[in-house]
Amino acid sequence: MVHGGAGALDNVKDDKTAFRYLEAIRRTLEHGRDVMELGGSALQAVEACASILEDDPVFNAGCGSVLNENGKVEMDAAIMDGRDLSAGAVAAVDNIANPVQLARLVMSESEHVMLISEGAMRFADHCSMERVPEDYFYTTDRVEQLRQARLQHKVMLDHDDSDADSEDQKYGTIGAIARDPLGNLAAATSTGGIVNKRMGRVGDSPIIGAGVYADNETCAVSATGFGEDFMRSVISKTISDFMYMKGMDAKQATEAGIEYLVRKVKGRGGVIVIDKDGNCSSGFTTKKMIHGWIEKSGETSCRF
Ligand code: GLY
Repeated sequence: MVHGGAGALDNVKDDKTAFRYLEAIRRTLEHGRDVMELGGSALQAVEACASILEDDPVFNAGCGSVLNENGKVEMDAAIMDGRDLSAGAVAAVDNIANPVQLARLVMSESEHVMLISEGAMRFADHCSMERVPEDYFYTTDRVEQLRQARLQHKVMLDHDDSDADSEDQKYGTIGAIARDPLGNLAAATSTGGIVNKRMGRVGDSPIIGAGVYADNETCAVSATGFGEDFMRSVISKTISDFMYMKGMDAKQATEAGIEYLVRKVKGRGGVIVIDKDGNCSSGFTTKKMIHGWIEKSGETSCRF
């Protein structure tokens, strides 16, 4: 399963734009399926899928990341392997095309789970990860979004020019979760965060248990939404706990998780979930969430 953000998606006003999003989701899913068909693990599949979405400027991650109060990109990402709960995360990084790949290196090449900002960038250099120039990230849309947010003296959420408290917005993040033929689960989430956010603001995406979680005994989860809500409710781990402690399946645990998110923090956003038996589920409190899934048979479903 993959997602490309939640919200009202009022920017998807015509069939051409809708087709553009859904095609990106479909191609990403097919690539993930191909990775696993060639013997790749769920972990390799989610890293590959998240990287594709980071490379697509319509999504708020990687090259399409929104700009902070200083007109700079600060990205967050995480990846988790359900086999042994190993995880890697980076926060407030820049000049990296694929933060999810840096998160994977933190997991596999360091003794830590999370590195941030300058320390994360030094680690990227240590791993010989290529740096990209700043203009790699500056799309006309993102610069205009920041201009609007500054004019209105407010923090804005991705792809939106409306009131930040209204439903008419899109909470941009991308995510990928997978179960491979061996039954291993993995999850990855990556984002540019929020338009005009304070320098140093970190959202839920790189926080293990909030924006991402994977455990072979329960499920894989990736979240998209207003990060502060997801951090406070630790939503991904909460959904996993509903399975572990109450024996729920993907659909039941997703519904229980969304109910908890709304009741406790009036959470705005959504989740995609695959349980240990391969059942797929999604839930969101916004009007829409761009997401899709692909079955072993090759059947793809993409929707808002
Ligand atoms: N969910 C992405 C963020 O709030 O940064």
